[in-house]
Amino acid sequence: CGIVGYVSRGDQERDHGALDVVLEGLRRLEYRGYDSAGVAVLTGADGGGIASAKKAGKLSNLLGELEQHPLPNSRTGIGHTRWATHGGPTDVNAHPHLADDDRLALIHNGIIENFSELKSVLLEKGVTFRSATDTEVAAALLGDEYQAAVDVPAAQRLTVAMQRACQKLEGAFTLLAIHADLPDVVVAARRNSPLVVGLGEGENFLGSDVSGFIDYTRRAVELGQDQIVTITPDAVEITDFFGAPAEGKEYQVDWDAAAAEKDGFPSFMEKEIHEQPRAVAETLLGRTDAEGRLVLDELRIDPEQLKQVNKIIVLACGTSAYAGQVAKYAIEHWCRIPTEVELSHEFRYRDPIVDSNTLVISISQSGETMDTLMAVRYAREQGAKTLAICNTNGSTIPRESDAVLYTHAGPEIAVASTKAFLAQITAAYLLGLYLAQLRGNKFQGEIKDLLADLHKTPDKIQSVLDNEQQIRDLAVAMKDTKSVLFLGRHVGFPVAMEGALKLKELAYIHAEGFAAGELKHGPIALIEEGQPVFVVVPSPNGRDSLHAKVVSNIQEIRARGAKTIVIAEEGDEAVREFAEQVFYIPATPTLLAPLLTTVPLQIFACALASAKGYDVDQPRNLAKSVTVE
Ligand code: G6P
Repeated sequence: CGIVGYVSRGDQERDHGALDVVLEGLRRLEYRGYDSAGVAVLTGADGGGIASAKKAGKLSNLLGELEQHPLPNSRTGIGHTRWATHGGPTDVNAHPHLADDDRLALIHNGIIENFSELKSVLLEKGVTFRSATDTEVAAALLGDEYQAAVDVPAAQRLTVAMQRACQKLEGAFTLLAIHADLPDVVVAARRNSPLVVGLGEGENFLGSDVSGFIDYTRRAVELGQDQIVTITPDAVEITDFFGAPAEGKEYQVDWDAAAAEKDGFPSFMEKEIHEQPRAVAETLLGRTDAEGRLVLDELRIDPEQLKQVNKIIVLACGTSAYAGQVAKYAIEHWCRIPTEVELSHEFRYRDPIVDSNTLVISISQSGETMDTLMAVRYAREQGAKTLAICNTNGSTIPRESDAVLYTHAGPEIAVASTKAFLAQITAAYLLGLYLAQLRGNKFQGEIKDLLADLHKTPDKIQSVLDNEQQIRDLAVAMKDTKSVLFLGRHVGFPVAMEGALKLKELAYIHAEGFAAGELKHGPIALIEEGQPVFVVVPSPNGRDSLHAKVVSNIQEIRARGAKTIVIAEEGDEAVREFAEQVFYIPATPTLLAPLLTTVPLQIFACALASAKGYDVDQPRNLAKSVTVE
């Protein structure tokens, strides 16, 4: 989601006007989510109230609404553009949410994990709710704390209420609130979710990132974890959740407005590649209970029905289909349910065997891919249960499916998919472990261990990203290459195909991914002196003799002149002597390796295409969501 806040002195000559600032900020932040938008402003200098407007759909819908029902361009305001997580993208679920007799407005980015417990307590106190969102619960909690803080001086009351509310909230959140009692104050809080302060003269700003206020100031303050900030026209005060004063780090923003939307990265694709640790972490967030059991109540599908499933078919296209192929290895291994993966457009024309005990899992970033939608409809007609793994809340495929498990990668703008892919694998793994848990295929201890390993993955992805220079240098050196092959085995096979797809999509280079074992059955004829071949090598500590087999495959192609570029686990010295270059990734269980091994391949394709001068965000002939069959 995108968040903006603004306060000013009310000096007609110099002020920018809260509504104008907030709407401009939202326009710049719209790339962060665009399924609904809303604003709230304080009206009247003293003793006024709050005026707000919110609308499902793009920001333009809100602008249309504001044309018909204008709001005052006052001194203080907040605004939000939403990427729905809890509750579909409707007018009612849009932010801001009001509380304390509509004298308090709150916006939120993130997920409040313990919202249902908090909601029951508030319901008992007689609070009523209008929406299905976790945010309204946070608003009501803040209103409740505000009422309870009668001991606190008026000027600090909202700040103290925010501190007390945050002590009770679990999960990830950025919160911004205004109260009708305080005409020139915005109070904000952050935990595991971004928030930056913009410093002005007689005015101050808040944004999810600097693009929220880049038109007005380049002086920014980065907030730390678990901090509260209170902005007034002339002051910025930071504390922790318990009221102890804290410091923020001031810095100068040297990007222009366009770069700010990309967080300083040259393209959305690079930004999204670097957002992958968060995409995986957010997809894992809130899906386990205190005992380490998976809780996927959001699925809206009867667990008893899931226990009856005797066959799984995964349907998807493009990169999402490779996520499905990776998932097959894990699901079959953990659940012992036969699992097929099929391209959506092939599925319904071949008279597939589907019945009411078949679970059809569709994987789609957009939730709008026509081929996948048609395949899901067909599967439903045949009586299958359908479950969507999707990144876009409220899109068509999840709406037409019996169940949905959302990936929380955030909006993906670049056409070639990166962070959605890792989030899809993560979600499919959660689903696989959940099915294993339901059916008792695995001991709870094993599931707990696997979940613990999954939770370590975001940091490991970050360490791959921290070492990206080596792969970038290689990409630049290889920019005139005409063909690249990719080999992998087991889960490394779909990773190899995804690596090849990225290179085709972005750099328009002929590239193919093969199963390493298949090489000797044909593709080895392609190998000649100097042919670059990427090899995704499994962990030497992984299953059976997989590692040894792939090392033999490398020797076979090396002997025929191939230039081998190897992705291997750190400490794997055996591969060194057969490789022109080795990229090491942190040690991880075999099934989780794709979450790491894919990353250097994405960086390679992106850096090579950039070196050729191509637009990596919008490659030729492609579309982000293909809504024709
Ligand atoms: C298009 C995009 C691909 C994407 C595929 C599936 O072809 O260019 O990047 O993987 O559609 O999209 P979906 O939204 O269903 O995951």
